[in-house]
Parts: sequence; structure tokens; C-alpha cells
Amino acid sequence: MPGAATISKGTVKPHLEVEGDWGLSGDVKVSGAKNSALVLMAAGLLTENALHLSNVPQLTDIEGMSEILSTLGVKLKRVGDELFLDPAKLHHAELPYDLVHGLRASFFCIGPLLARLGQAKIPLPGGCEIGARPVSEHIKGLKALGAYISVEHGLVTAAIPGTKKRLKGAEIVLDCPSVGATETILMASVLAEGKSSIENAAQEPEVQDLAKLLNNMGAKVSGAGGPKITIEGVKKLHGCDYIVMPDRIEAGTFLIAAAITRSALRISPVIPEHLNAVLQKLRDCGCSLKINGDEIYIQPGEIVGVDITTQPFPGFPTDLQAPFMALMATAKGTSMITEKIYENRMQHVSELQRMGASIRLQGNTAVIEGVPKLSAAPVSGGDLRSTAAMILASLSAQGISKVEGLHHLDRGYAAIEEKLNQAGANIIRH
Ligand code: UD1
Repeated sequence: MPGAATISKGTVKPHLEVEGDWGLSGDVKVSGAKNSALVLMAAGLLTENALHLSNVPQLTDIEGMSEILSTLGVKLKRVGDELFLDPAKLHHAELPYDLVHGLRASFFCIGPLLARLGQAKIPLPGGCEIGARPVSEHIKGLKALGAYISVEHGLVTAAIPGTKKRLKGAEIVLDCPSVGATETILMASVLAEGKSSIENAAQEPEVQDLAKLLNNMGAKVSGAGGPKITIEGVKKLHGCDYIVMPDRIEAGTFLIAAAITRSALRISPVIPEHLNAVLQKLRDCGCSLKINGDEIYIQPGEIVGVDITTQPFPGFPTDLQAPFMALMATAKGTSMITEKIYENRMQHVSELQRMGASIRLQGNTAVIEGVPKLSAAPVSGGDLRSTAAMILASLSAQGISKVEGLHHLDRGYAAIEEKLNQAGANIIRH
């Protein structure tokens, strides 16, 4: 790689060396959705039968969840992107802290464990790089379904009182449309006695994917994808084959990669309706988009500044806020980006500034004056999506950047550098 010698080889941290000012072309493939796959794996605990998931992305978060399920007694077999789960011998209802630490999705096991074994003990997942991330709404929902819950010494203990060991349907209204709380309550209520409803439910596509899987397993869920979900409890669920939906956040990241490098790319498979808010902002900032079934062809023109505010679905997703800010750092004119979901999701601002971006941060609003060119620098992503944003910024910058934070990146992007290299990028992993 020309000029690569400018980067010190003495480094010990894994990193990507990204050659900038580099065009992309051709096709980029999108993997299965991380946030879907994780919750679908937990839903596998709800039956005694085997569950076969396909299109499961190869990610460290999926490996972590597999390890957790196997601790609980589930047999797992992975063949490429296929995952076979056999939960017949599920026997253990307690998760150890060292496995849960760093994988918030482990908390998804609480609903299925309660419904299947009548008890669960899971360490509180705690906050993370982007915010406090409470689970009070999950707990409120489980209590409404009749579970006894105590939180002591950082451990959530849940049990169904009485001899029946079956949760009871309830009407639950969430204070905020939490994705995780909606999914937890949904999984707990499918085996409950009677009817349940979740109002002010999260409408994210991952909730719809979960409801679809549960219905394939014999559950009676309706309304997922809207603000009110209704669940008619059934006594038993069975196994099934299920294909995880494409990852809308990964697809959005590649669309932004095309825009920031001013390159035409074809991205697939995508469910375009999952990305409406993002597609609209890409059009508004100067990209032309052609949608053909599950393919999106993006052809950027001159990129101009546009404002975004993150919102629950169908609004602009918080998980694409950092990548979009990298794009706006290279746009003509001013843009304003406001983060409304998480209290601490602006760490990428200082890293982008190190690359020459002109950004003023006022609380959770960033005011960005686009610059004609970013300049390469050693940068580090503080969380999953900001690391992806650093790669995108590096692809467009002048020179060779060193991007650290790969332990975040590998949680949620399957072989991102290989996919981008196939589209003509020059990224080397060290
Ligand atoms: C999921 C996604 C994550 C995404 C987020 C928002 C997974 C594994 N992760 O996270 O990538 O960024 O949705 O789209 O699917 N909240 C409360 N009380 C609660 C629960 C949540 O106040 O009991 C707040 C959170 O602090 C946060 C907001 O609600 O400010 C959204 O959180 P939530 O929708 O629960 O996100 P997750 O399900 O954790």
C-alpha cells in the first residue's frame, strides 16, 4: 500500500489501515441482522424442539450469545451462516456475570427462561459506552405478567409464584417504546395464560422479525410493527426453520460509504421500507437512489448538508447517526445532527475533529460545517457504530488512517473490510 510506512508498526492494538481518497464500485452484500439474530436465538429457548436459523451473521456478539445459550444447556451447531439450536435439555436458569458482561443482549434470556423454566437469574446488564441503558421497562412488563422480580447485588431474580408456573396475560403500556422491553415482554407473554397487549410498543423491524419467528413457532401475535401488539397465549411452541432478515444498519452503513466516497454502489439484500428515513436523507443530501426489489443502487451527486434527529423507528436510527455525521463532515454547507435516543453518543465528534472535521458540539446536538477534504489520522471508535463511522471517514480522507476499536467493530459488522475491499477499497487488518 503506497505510503503505508507512515504508520508506526510498533502498535500492539489490532487496527485497520485504511487508504483514503479512494473510490468504490460494484456490489456489496449485506449480512443477516445482528439485532434480530440475537433475539431470535433467545426465542429458541421457548420451545423444546430444534430451531434452525439461516442468514445468521458471523459476529462476536453471536458467538457470545451462543456461549450463553450453551451454558444454559442448549446444544448449538454452526455451519456457515446456519445455526441449529437444540434446547431440549435446557436445565439452567442462571447466567454468570462474566458471560453477560459486555453483551447486553444476554438479558433477552430472562423472558424465555421464565416462560419455560418458571425462573431466571440474570445479572443486570448495566450501562455501556453510549448511555445508562436501564431495563426498568422490561422488569415492569414481566411483573405485570405475574412474575416476582427482585434486583439485589446486581442480580435480577425472576420467578413465577404459585404451582402453575405459567405467567398470566396482562395489558402493558410502556413509558417509552423500548426495543428490548418490547421484545422481552413479547417473548414472555407468548406462553402466558390468556391475552396480553403491549401499548407504546417499539415498531422496529427487529420486533417484527421476532413476532414472525414466534408465529412460525405456533404463537399468536398480531400488530407487531405498529404501536400496539396483541398476544394470545398458547400452551406450547414448536421448532421451525427461519431466515434472519437483512441488517438494515449494515445496509445503511454501506449506503453512506458510497455517499462519502462519492461512488456508485449496488447494495443487497435490503428491505427498503426498513430504511425509508435514511433513504430520504440520502436523497435530500444529493444522492440518487434506484430501488429494484431487494437491491438499492446509489449514485451520489454533490453532497450538501442536511439536518437529522434520531428517533425510534420509523424515524432516523440512532445506530446510523455516527456514520451519517462522517458524511456530513464532508458535505457542502452546514448540517445539524441531534441525538435523541442515547445520552452519550457523541464520542465520534472528537475523532472526526482529529481528521479535520469542523464540528461544534452543544449538548447532544452537533453543528457541522462541511470541509472539502478530511485528512487521515490515527483514530479510535468508542463503540460499534462510531468505529464504522471512522472507517467511512477514513475512506474519504486524504492519506492512510489507522482505525482502532476493532473489538467493537467485530461485534456487529461481519467481515466489513473484506466486503469493502471487494468493492475496491484498500483496507488491511493488523
Ligand atoms: C436496541 C438495539 C440498539 C439500538 C436501540 C435503539 C439490540 C440488541 N440493540 O437496543 O442497537 O441502538 O435498540 O434503536 O436490539 N430505555 C429506558 N428504560 C428501559 C429501556 C430503555 O428508559 O427500561 C431507554 C434507553 O435508555 C434508551 C431508549 O430507551 O434511551 C432506547 O432503548 P431501547 O429501545 O431499549 O434499546 P435497546 O433495546 O437496548
